Amino acid sequence: AESARARGPLAGRHVLVTSGPTHEPIDPVRYIANRSSGKQGHAIAAAAAAAGARVTLVSGPVAIADPPGVAVVRAESAREMLAAVEAALPADVAIFAAAVADWRAAEAKPSKLKKDGTTPAPLALALNPDILATIARRPREPGSGRPALVVGFAAETDDVVENARAKLARKGCDLVVANDVSAAGGGVMGGDFNAVHLVSPEGVETWARAAKDEVARRLVAHLASRLAASSQE
Ligand code: CTP
Ligand code: CA
Repeated sequence: AESARARGPLAGRHVLVTSGPTHEPIDPVRYIANRSSGKQGHAIAAAAAAAGARVTLVSGPVAIADPPGVAVVRAESAREMLAAVEAALPADVAIFAAAVADWRAAEAKPSKLKKDGTTPAPLALALNPDILATIARRPREPGSGRPALVVGFAAETDDVVENARAKLARKGCDLVVANDVSAAGGGVMGGDFNAVHLVSPEGVETWARAAKDEVARRLVAHLASRLAASSQE
């Protein structure tokens, strides 16, 4: 690891990765969450470290081990994850692989809600901050804290590339890694394989289905070469 730190393609770079779901409390025993194992995000953090980067992994609640050679910061809710991301910046590259809950309970109750045998009250929701958009929309100038490369993920069941293009534009990031999580995509959620399209203003690159570790290594190599090219401009 020491030699990669000194000589790898990401030597001297700081890479920030978000991974896993967020949990949004309803009361002390219940929460709202997305389905996410954290496998892809954690694999990207590990691959970036193996490529020589200093890596900060901001992880939601996951059941998998911390990757080796990576500084792990834990976050529970979307708002905590945003604060942890802001505290970890600046970075050269930020990869937002977390499955952030879009909504939280408008009010987290301090004590357990009890069922009283009647129809439950509806749950009021509030919109969570968009962590990726918040960072990607920072101005592209030195000192703004916007990483040179901001990468988003898009988990889609339909019109995968079209939806990814829309997300690229809406969020202001440099690249969207789109994966097909429908049944046709082959058990991406929680599984060990992923099939992705890289969608950027330059076009679309489709990668054959591969192990999440392999997708992570390819993505890191792709980002390292983009970063090297942009540093030479
Ligand atoms: N993301 C984020 N903060 C949020 C929601 C999403 O940082 N509050 C990031 C994810 O980590 C991912 C990207 O945004 O990199 C796209 O997430 P996704 O859920 O696919 O997009 P949304 O904009 O939330 O749209 P929707 O869920 O309606 O498809
Ligand atoms: Ca979402």
